[in-house]
Amino acid sequence: MKEHFIQKAKEFVGETVTLKGWAYSVRKGGKIWFLLLRDGTGIMQCVVTQTDADEASFDIKNVITQESSVKVTGLVKAEPRSPGGYEMLVHSLELVALAEEYPISKKEHGVDYLMDNRHLWLRSKRQHAIIRIRHTIIKAIRDYFDERDFTLLDTPIFQKAATEGTATLFATDYFGEKAYLTQSGQLYGEAGAAAFGKIYCFGPTFRAEKSKTRRHLTEFWMVEPEMAFYDLDMNMDVAEDFVFYIISQVLKYRRVELETLERDIKKLEAIQIPFPRISYTEAVKILNDNGVEFEWGDDFGGADETIISNQFDSPVMVHRYPAAIKAFYMKRDPENDKQVMALDMLAPEGYGEIIGGSQREDDLTAIIDRIKADGATEEDYNWYLDLRRYGSFPHSGFGLGVERVVSWLCGLQHIRETIPFPRTISRLNP
Ligand code: 4AD
Ligand code: MG
Repeated sequence: MKEHFIQKAKEFVGETVTLKGWAYSVRKGGKIWFLLLRDGTGIMQCVVTQTDADEASFDIKNVITQESSVKVTGLVKAEPRSPGGYEMLVHSLELVALAEEYPISKKEHGVDYLMDNRHLWLRSKRQHAIIRIRHTIIKAIRDYFDERDFTLLDTPIFQKAATEGTATLFATDYFGEKAYLTQSGQLYGEAGAAAFGKIYCFGPTFRAEKSKTRRHLTEFWMVEPEMAFYDLDMNMDVAEDFVFYIISQVLKYRRVELETLERDIKKLEAIQIPFPRISYTEAVKILNDNGVEFEWGDDFGGADETIISNQFDSPVMVHRYPAAIKAFYMKRDPENDKQVMALDMLAPEGYGEIIGGSQREDDLTAIIDRIKADGATEEDYNWYLDLRRYGSFPHSGFGLGVERVVSWLCGLQHIRETIPFPRTISRLNP
């Protein structure tokens, strides 16, 4: 079956073809009218005249409404003045379904209204561009690991214990037992690293984030590679190479969409590897030098991250954080007991943390101490501790939040537009 899509118009210039889609907008004259046809891949101007179209088709102009679905047959020509560079001279037009008055018009709507109509808002140019860039980012993520001998390891959504602290767990009833929605696949990923060497898990993760910020969702997608016999430095090498690859793929395949979003593409093109690497202690100094009252041991807030990342044009990796503000599974710094071998990658332009990772604690006694210090028990993590009992090994990994990266690369104000149907503290619908 031969199908024709607007984004491939170049391939059928000079041919008479049928396109199926929706009326993005309609402009009417007496003897001629213009239909901007949207088919999900692009937008094409269709010109309907009394001479070229049959009478019934021409008369559809009297009834057609925005977002009515249609089938249009006609001759495709190159037309530099048209949006997209092509146009169709219509021979016949069939109304598939007439749309009711469309809730989203050209006039300005508030964000809440648009979010309430998210299922329709997705059809608009901006949202379309964002989701296509998201698609390319996700494909780049998969390709990166697939091409480097990582095995995909799917980790469970229902979990018995916390990975990233108990404060943000979503609890659910699991046949009379308590289960939590996954915050991270990491602990299972570590089991995978012992079985396969290099793995990645990639799926939705959940955090009961009670704060309203432009960076937090309650449901977001995270990719987490985990690598056997990798130390912190090797982990950072992978993280920067990986993020650089994602940027290069977006620049290669999604230029039109970046332009639709009016993204300052030069800022992305200027990014180079290696990315700067600074210790947490050096980051604290940057804050203090910028007049921020910040003490060693405090955790960075969004505003702090912005100040640190503003010192650089590329993402910056901050390593070796105070143990007290990081998760139990991170390896103690052999050179400073107060620190762990953590890494965060902060994106430029104020987008904040896009990656969190670490070298993992591989010493059984040390990790049991950390679990107990968190108020949990050895039993909670029994299977996980087996990884330290049966052939413990140095290993490292990180998690990259897809929506944070989409937000940054698209240059968005808020993370809610980065995912088709966002979940936040105040939104469960649509
Ligand atoms: O820094 P986090 O909490 O790290 C982990 O979950 C580790 N277990 C990962 C690992 O080492 N395998 O989260 C990782 C990333 C953050 O850097 C951020 O990009 C994203 O996940 N993230 C969120 N994105 C959107 N909304 C939220 N509420 C997020 N919380 C974390
Ligand atoms: Mg983090």
